[in-house]
Amino acid sequence: MSRPDRDVMLCRDCCCGTDKHPRTDHDGQRDALLAMDGVAGVRVRVVDCLDQCDRSNVVLVRDFTGGRRPVDTWLGGVLDPRATERVVDWVSEGGELPRELEPHRFGQNRRGR
Ligand code: FES
Repeated sequence: MSRPDRDVMLCRDCCCGTDKHPRTDHDGQRDALLAMDGVAGVRVRVVDCLDQCDRSNVVLVRDFTGGRRPVDTWLGGVLDPRATERVVDWVSEGGELPRELEPHRFGQNRRGR
């Protein structure tokens, strides 16, 4: 795939995807997100620590559809199946972040410039 329309980075390292969140189905979350990879302009990658461990599980969505500069949306506390499902729906369909995911959104860190 050349440059995707949307690039999804699922963090998996020291906090995201670990026993720090023992009730989360981390494998299920990873599989649900990876199922979008290569479909309809979406690329999904599992990445190392995004330096936002306090907000684990972290998902960064980089949207290239709006012009030259990508728009980053940082999501934290993505721990339950419903939130994961909403992320999948939103990334697949595009558009504005659904209201249900707003509580998960946070500002950029130094890697998000
Ligand atoms: S392990 Fe995900 S932000 Fe650090």
